[in-house]
Amino acid sequence: MQQNYSRIIGIGSYLPPKVVTNDDLAKFVDTSDEWISSRTGISQRHFVETEKCSDLAYEAAKNALLSADFSAEKLDAIIVATTTADKVFPSVACNVQYRIGARGCCSFDVQAVCAGFMYALGIADSMIKAGQYKNVLVIGSETMSKLMDWEDRSTCVLFGDGAGAMLLTADNQPGIISTTLHADGKHEELLHAPIISPRNNDTVGYLKMEGNKIFKIAVNNMGKIIDETLTNANMSYQELDWLIPHQANTRIIQSIAKKLKMPMEQVIVTIAKHANTSAASVPLAFDSAVRNGKIKKGDNCIMVAFGGGLTWGSCLVKY
Ligand code: ACO
Repeated sequence: MQQNYSRIIGIGSYLPPKVVTNDDLAKFVDTSDEWISSRTGISQRHFVETEKCSDLAYEAAKNALLSADFSAEKLDAIIVATTTADKVFPSVACNVQYRIGARGCCSFDVQAVCAGFMYALGIADSMIKAGQYKNVLVIGSETMSKLMDWEDRSTCVLFGDGAGAMLLTADNQPGIISTTLHADGKHEELLHAPIISPRNNDTVGYLKMEGNKIFKIAVNNMGKIIDETLTNANMSYQELDWLIPHQANTRIIQSIAKKLKMPMEQVIVTIAKHANTSAASVPLAFDSAVRNGKIKKGDNCIMVAFGGGLTWGSCLVKY
C-alpha cells in the first residue's frame, strides 16, 4: 500500500527544572510581575542551569519515543530545530542521535528561529512523502536564556528554555495534511542576535528585538499563512478543532484567534508557564495539550509560528 502521508505517532517534551517567576526577574531587572503578565501573559519561565540545548533535546526525544514505545534503532532521520545549539558544530541532532542509540541515521539541525519547528516538520514531511525515509524524529530545542541581555528589559523578560519532539512515520492516512513556509530577510534589524566572536570584543551575542514592530508583522503574517495552509488543503476554519500557535504574546494569540473566528477555548495557550521558547514553543504546547486530554487522536490541528529571519510557517495535521 502506498504510504503518502506522515503521521504523528509519538510526542514528548522536557522543561529544565529551574522555574523563574516574574517576581524573581524583578529582583535584578527593572520590571514588575504586573507589567510582564498584563503585556504578555507570561507568569514564569524555565531556565537551564548546567544543561545544554542538546540535553533538553535528548530528554524530549526520549519522551517522544517512550510515548510510542518506539526503538531509536528504527529511526531513519533526526531533525532538530534550534537557534541556540551547544556548539557551531557538530549539530544538536548528531549529539541526540548518538545518545538515544540511533547510530547511522541522517541527522541535522535547522535554523529558522521561532518558526524552526514548522520548517523541520515541513522538511520531515517532504522526506517521508518522497518515499526515502519512513521514521523521522523532529525536535525543537532552545536555551533562549543564554541569548538574553539582562539590561534590556523589553526583551529579556519574554523568553524561556525547553524542548518538544514529535515522531513521524509513513502511513497511508494523514497525518500532516499541508505545510506552508515563508521568509523575508528584509527586516533583519528588527529581530536578530549577532554572532559572539572571540576575536571581536565589541560583538555581543544578545538577542535584540523591536517588539512593537514585530508584533504587528507577526499578527498579520500568521493570520495570512493559516489562510494559505487551509486553502491548500481545501479546508475551512470550521473544520479545525485546535489552534496551536507560537507562544510569544497572549495578545498576539488572541488577535490570530479573532481573525480565525475561533473561540479561545479551542486555542492552546501555555505562555503563562513556558514564556517564549522559540522553536520549542509549538511542540511544548502541543504535548501539554495531548497530556492534559485536550487534543485527541483524529482532531484537526493547525500549528503556526513566526520568528527571526523573518520566518513564518504553518502546519495542518490530523493528530
Ligand atoms: N517592564 C516594565 N516596563 C517595560 C518593560 C518591562 N519588562 N519593557 C518595556 N517597558 C516599558 C517601555 O520602556 C515603555 O515605556 P515608555 O512608554 O515609558 O517608553 C512601555 O513599557 C511600552 O513598551 P512597548 O515596547 O511599546 O510595549 P509593548 O506593549 O509593545 O510590548 C512586547 C512589548 C511585549 C515585546 C510586544 O511588543 C511583543 O510581544 N512583541 C512581539 C514579540 C514577538 O512576537 N517576537 C517574535 C518571535 S521572537 C523570535 O523569533 C526570537
